[in-house]
Amino acid sequence: MSVFELRNVKYVYQTQYQRVEAIRGISCSFDAGMLYAIMGTSGSGKTTLLSLMAGMDVPTEGQVLCDEVATSDMKLDRYRREKVAVIYQDFRLLPMLTVAENVMYPMELRGKRPAEARARAAELLEKVGLSEMADRFPAMLSGGERQRVAIARALGMETHVLLADEPTGNLDTENTEKVFEILSRLAHEDGYCVVIVTHDSSLGKRADQTLNLRDGELIPGRRKVQPKKEAVSFTRLIRKVVKN
Ligand SMILES: Nc1ncnc2c1ncn2[C@@H]1O[C@H](COP(=O)(O)OP(=O)(O)OP(=O)(O)O)[C@@H](O)[C@H]1O
Ligand SMILES: [Mg+2]
Repeated sequence: MSVFELRNVKYVYQTQYQRVEAIRGISCSFDAGMLYAIMGTSGSGKTTLLSLMAGMDVPTEGQVLCDEVATSDMKLDRYRREKVAVIYQDFRLLPMLTVAENVMYPMELRGKRPAEARARAAELLEKVGLSEMADRFPAMLSGGERQRVAIARALGMETHVLLADEPTGNLDTENTEKVFEILSRLAHEDGYCVVIVTHDSSLGKRADQTLNLRDGELIPGRRKVQPKKEAVSFTRLIRKVVKN
């Protein structure tokens, strides 16, 4: 069973004067425990596709399903708050908050008590190798460190889906390597479904599966590994626990 399923997804940007068919009928699925790389030239529809999966909008035609529910049948603000964590190329950290506070912020928005959020933020910062930086402000960090804070913040959402648009686009080779390493560990060890958009073909080659976009159409790449059987989506796990 897939975490995401795209069924003949089409997306049209329609303005008063222009109509752009950005996605032209894509069907594919994404599993837990896998790292996917969406690749393609500029304007091929990568960000549009990721935005549809992130619930920024619903498809013009077709369906995006997450844990078997179509985004068109969901309250999108709640979906964005609770189910999908997004990591951006420009990090989007809040400059007036410390590193720890940036990681705590979405947890507190979701009702976690400050003391719990602080403890969880410390765990997550350790996971991305930034325990020492907890009390710094984002301006005092390197690009690679900022991106790792953004990953820790995304993990605080406790979803099992991570979507990242060019997460290494602003980083040098060494930091790209660190960030990629963290993302692949999250997929392979923690069972996350990780989907990244990248221009970097060397990262594409190392992903479990590449999805090549050309003019809004999908050319599926090879699939290197099969998802582990035990890698199940977090939501499904919770549902199972609640049922029993
Ligand atoms: N807000 C918008 N209004 C109209 N057309 C848009 C809008 N956003 C994107 N497009 C068009 O949709 C197509 C796909 O854009 P998209 O941003 O998904 O490409 P991309 O693959 O992410 O490109 P890049 O690698 O440059 O980020 C392009 O032709 C683009 O011009
Ligand atoms: Mg883009």
